[in-house]
Amino acid sequence: MPSRLASILLLAGALAHTTTAHDSHVEQKRLPGTWYQPDDHPVHALFKRDGGASDGITYAPVGSPEWTAGYPPGAPDITQLPPAWLNALHAAEAAGKIPKIPVSTMVAGGEPTYDGFDPNKPEVCSATYQCRIQGDLWDGPPGTLALSFDDGPLPPSPALYDFLQSNGLHATHFFIGSNILQYPAIFSQALANGDDMAVHTWTHPYMTTKTNEELVGEFGWTMEIIHNSTGGRLPKYWRPPYGDSDMRTRAIAKEVFGLTTVIWNQDTDDWSLHEAGGTTLDKIATLMQTWLTGPKTPGLIILEHELMVDTVGAFIAAFPLMKSNGWNMVSLAQLDGGAAYQNADNSTSPVNPGQVADLSVQEPPSASGSSSAPSSKPTG
Ligand SMILES: *[C@@H]1O[C@H](CO)[C@@H](O)[C@H](O)[C@H]1NC(C)=O
Ligand SMILES: *[C@@H]1O[C@H](CO)[C@@H](O)[C@H](O)[C@H]1NC(C)=O
Repeated sequence: MPSRLASILLLAGALAHTTTAHDSHVEQKRLPGTWYQPDDHPVHALFKRDGGASDGITYAPVGSPEWTAGYPPGAPDITQLPPAWLNALHAAEAAGKIPKIPVSTMVAGGEPTYDGFDPNKPEVCSATYQCRIQGDLWDGPPGTLALSFDDGPLPPSPALYDFLQSNGLHATHFFIGSNILQYPAIFSQALANGDDMAVHTWTHPYMTTKTNEELVGEFGWTMEIIHNSTGGRLPKYWRPPYGDSDMRTRAIAKEVFGLTTVIWNQDTDDWSLHEAGGTTLDKIATLMQTWLTGPKTPGLIILEHELMVDTVGAFIAAFPLMKSNGWNMVSLAQLDGGAAYQNADNSTSPVNPGQVADLSVQEPPSASGSSSAPSSKPTG
């Protein structure tokens, strides 16, 4: 009976998922009615397992004064973070889940360095130095081109959204939380197109230079604003600004917020257009030609930005080659056939309510306020 066998295998997979490292992308399947992370993951307590309006939970309208008032306008003040977020961090630290490596330091124009530690050694494994941590996403499946754009939402973004929509494409947007706060209408356009929302931190710092608490602020507010502005969808992916992540930053992303780290395997350097010594549109076109007509394995994860009219233009100019070379273009968040969110398949499918009855068992006493909302209004 193949269907029974299939359900046993599915169940076995789900059990394995709760008892092994959650690093493998092979394990990114979940049973209907569950969230991506296992029930005992802190992300359940931090972001209530609500199904949005169907559970009677309402969110302030995106762009309204109540919505704006909830978030820090600038760098998160770590003395104003919701206590539940810090409790989850401290529990993960106490459980030995957050590596005790130094915070990196940087001199202007340099790269992050670690006092007494080699950034290529497994205990640090800095993505800035191209060290790949198992479970982080660098490559796509063969033949696949993952569509993703960093740094929005910004004024050049709507031209990109119109182009994607008119070509029937969906992309993943690694959004900067404070840009969402500043450009709610542009955010709403991307969401209305059915594109996938992912985390690019609140203020776009070199994350390895930040303390554990500062990292919680950068992740937490971006998770919260996307969650509260998408009817309760919880992002599943984050991309570190400048590709700067290490064992510590990715552990906080994963162990506190349930996020998977995404890097890239080709870099357009499009952010440096119009900078002294920066790249040019011709150079980007030459790189695109090489990549798009080259081997189909691994699939391409190309770093691109919705930062300027010209970075959007560089993508639009390369699009005919993407098509003519037969690339399977999917949003990055759905590149391996999985869901774009921890609790929903995509921006238009229903939010999974999860097993709400579990909350009473799973919620730690420290989070008994049960809301991830700050107890007082944060200041920037
Ligand atoms: C997010 O939405 C929930 C549910 O309405 C609310 O309690 C919480 O305060 C909101 N968060 C922010 C930062 O506004
Ligand atoms: C969103 O997910 C649903 C299944 O939950 C699927 O039917 C639909 O095609 C998906 N939409 C996109 C744009 O991928």
